[in-house]
Amino acid sequence: MDYKRTTLIDIPTIRDPRGNLSVLENSGVVPFTIARVYWIYDLPSDTERHGHAFYSQYEIIVPLSGSFDIETEDSQGIKTFHLDRPNKALIIPPLTWRSIKNFSTLSSALIISSQLYDENDYIRSYSLFHELTSPYRK
Ligand code: TYD
Repeated sequence: MDYKRTTLIDIPTIRDPRGNLSVLENSGVVPFTIARVYWIYDLPSDTERHGHAFYSQYEIIVPLSGSFDIETEDSQGIKTFHLDRPNKALIIPPLTWRSIKNFSTLSSALIISSQLYDENDYIRSYSLFHELTSPYRK
């Protein structure tokens, strides 16, 4: 599958009376080979995971518990996604500015990445991000 834009996906889920099981693997809805998984938790509700973008990595953000908002910006504009179910996730392609905010109490997120951690893949300056994406803007 080819996700050029930020996309909400349904994670395949097996439901039975004992509870739900959702699974992502290197096929189907994941548009890359999984290289790294990390998670954020114990998030103060008034905190914001400040914005950044990546030059080349994709990521998928899964709201494991609670809820939060992800604001994204790409050459097509700004969008806000409210994530509140562990079987709905957001695929974020490279060159997308994203910040995460409005965490509910006891929220946590799983982030699945297409690359190993590499600080050189981060675009942490909003003005640089704008410069890099301006040729593609509407
Ligand atoms: P940061 O990228 O600011 O977090 P977020 O993606 O939520 O905005 O990362 C916070 C710190 O953790 C920063 O010093 C880099 C470090 N870090 C690693 O060492 N390895 C990793 O895989 C990640 C995602 C971050």
